[in-house]
Amino acid sequence: MKTAEYSPGLEGIIAGTTTISHVNPDLCSLMYRGYDIRELVKHSSFEEVAYLLLKGKLPTQGEYDEFCALLKQERDLPDVLVDAFKTFPKNSVPMDMLRTGTALLALHDPDKDDNSHDANVRKAIRSIAKFPALIAYSYRINRGQEIVKPDNGLGHGENFLYMLQGKKPDAYMAHVFDCSLICYADHGFNASTFSSRVTVSTLSDIYSGLVAAIGTLKGPLHGGANEEAMKMLQEVGTPENAEAWVIDALATKKKIMGFGHREYKNGDPRAFILTEMGAEMSEKLGDTQWYKTASIVESVMHREKNIVPNVDFPTSYIYYLMGLPIEIYTPIFALARVSGWTAHMIEQLDNNRLIRPKALYEGPDHLDFVVRAQR
Ligand code: SDX
Repeated sequence: MKTAEYSPGLEGIIAGTTTISHVNPDLCSLMYRGYDIRELVKHSSFEEVAYLLLKGKLPTQGEYDEFCALLKQERDLPDVLVDAFKTFPKNSVPMDMLRTGTALLALHDPDKDDNSHDANVRKAIRSIAKFPALIAYSYRINRGQEIVKPDNGLGHGENFLYMLQGKKPDAYMAHVFDCSLICYADHGFNASTFSSRVTVSTLSDIYSGLVAAIGTLKGPLHGGANEEAMKMLQEVGTPENAEAWVIDALATKKKIMGFGHREYKNGDPRAFILTEMGAEMSEKLGDTQWYKTASIVESVMHREKNIVPNVDFPTSYIYYLMGLPIEIYTPIFALARVSGWTAHMIEQLDNNRLIRPKALYEGPDHLDFVVRAQR
């Protein structure tokens, strides 16, 4: 049997192969199926990116139209799920509701007992299509509001904003939101994707993998960071307070949320794209307080620690400027990443081997067993 060196947190360990996304810290680039995300943000849509991740190639116009129609057809939820949301405790955490909603959705999927490649692609499309309603319906019901049914005249991202906020976003907001979904869609063997692959590597099903992935994404060291970053910006309050706040936080060994990355040490390409959009959006809306505060936090972090923002920093204030509730930011990450998760689980199952690493045992061995009465 091959043995490898121990690396805490599996840092630097190659745990498998993939053709889905290429995280390249040396070039500070991210490619989906060979296409640079900078190009995808400029010319594509979230729907097209989801197709690319799932099917491995860009769609023709006909394939694209068919895929978008399928997503629209699958947008709504079975009534039993809506009824179930009414039983959730008041003020439940939206990520918990998404996790439970996904588990419930699994019970109602017509392909639930079929683990074939084709059935898994159908389940992937259904879950991508239904995550917006899972998030928006559960959120609105839990906060005592009527649900807003999907509008099939709207694209995937803008329809989510409509179902959540009850009003159609303007074209600019819809565009920025769509770009953020493209940036969030996939990212190599990040923790949530890896947990989804581990789950299906036992030949378990796609929904079980999604539930594992949502639970993994929730933590503040991973997807939960976009919510924590905005709470931090609120605590900082104004650009004038930012420098002293960061220096004080670093002195007390606080983690600055939305900064640092296991892979990128010189910058996250998604953060560059979204910071530019955040600046433009702030100017357009005439509300530059958050962007200015964020910029100072960024320059102090760079000066003091040489640590730069990751994708979760600019999305925090972009979503805030869109008027989105903070507790919905991590579910939005999931809404996009479900495309990557499902693509990865299908890739894993198409060429599966059980994922089962070794542990370096550090406890005692061969202790003498003393019966309970004599201890
Ligand atoms: C995502 O993996 C992915 O691809 C994830 C993701 C995706 O798309 O799927 O990109 C999405 O999860 C982005 C990351 C979101 N998390 C945060 O923003 C939380 C804050 N960041 C961190 O805690 C940290 O940077 C991690 C968890 C992201 C990475 O952790 P590592 O690789 O284990 O690094 P580390 O914690 O060992 O840090 C190394 C050093 C330490 O200092 P020293 O002890 O060596 O002096 O850098 C410091 C850390 O204290 N450091 C930070 C910091 N991040 C690292 N110090 C202050 N604030 C930070 N944010």
